[in-house]
Amino acid sequence: MLEKIKECSDFIKSRIKFDTDTAIILGTGLGKLAEEIVVEYFINYEEIPHFPVSTVEGHSGKLIFGRLGEKKVIAMKGRFHFYEGYSMEEVTLPIRVFKFLGITKLFVSNAAGGMNPSFDVGDIMIITDHVNMFPEHPLRGKNYDELGPRFPDMSETYNKTLVEKAEYIAKIKDIKVHKGIYVGVSGPTYETPAEYKFFRIIGGDAVGMSTVPEVIVAKHIGMDIFGISVITDSGAPGKLKEITHEEVQKIGELAQPKMANIIKELIK
Ligand code: HPA
Repeated sequence: MLEKIKECSDFIKSRIKFDTDTAIILGTGLGKLAEEIVVEYFINYEEIPHFPVSTVEGHSGKLIFGRLGEKKVIAMKGRFHFYEGYSMEEVTLPIRVFKFLGITKLFVSNAAGGMNPSFDVGDIMIITDHVNMFPEHPLRGKNYDELGPRFPDMSETYNKTLVEKAEYIAKIKDIKVHKGIYVGVSGPTYETPAEYKFFRIIGGDAVGMSTVPEVIVAKHIGMDIFGISVITDSGAPGKLKEITHEEVQKIGELAQPKMANIIKELIK
């Protein structure tokens, strides 16, 4: 696996000299942020050796190297979901490649179903912690000490300083935000009412089908992590309605200005 990662990062370095410590996974709610990045270079996923290629509707795939304001960033436009059939190694490969490109700070966004009854559809939630409900752990198997320890500490996975700064930015900009715990599941089904109830009982505020694998691997590497969710539907008792992927994407798009605003300022 290490050779694969190094081949990826060597390929990227052979194509572009780009020095930065910050990467963004442009999940739901941040797609349009790509348009605000002054692109210096991009590489389509297909061109990168060993890189998986994203398939799901609404997610295209390329690595963007550019400037967000003053700050140089690498952005993933399109990510890999476990439900698409990728292995955990494939889902998290880009994060490990980032390590060899010098990345130490990771920003990630996603769409999630709200379980906290005080959340409304269209709200945003700063992730303070997660519960990993994926059926497979991305660090299962041989540990690569070059990447991180066998038994990584997870007592502060989402960087507290970044959470505080994001809250402050939201307050200044008059953007309503919640803080909460993200439950990561494999999907592709949305939850049954009983499952939403269960995830609420175990401490979750929102549930979604991404982020946790990438965050675990980023934490293993020792990155500072910031995550944000757009609440695209509600699983709270009395608020639960039928949902579709289209609806989730539509709400995600509506929340883009709020999300982008916070992330941009935070990265600055
Ligand atoms: N459940 C799981 N994943 C999701 C949801 C949800 O309700 N909404 C958006 N992604």
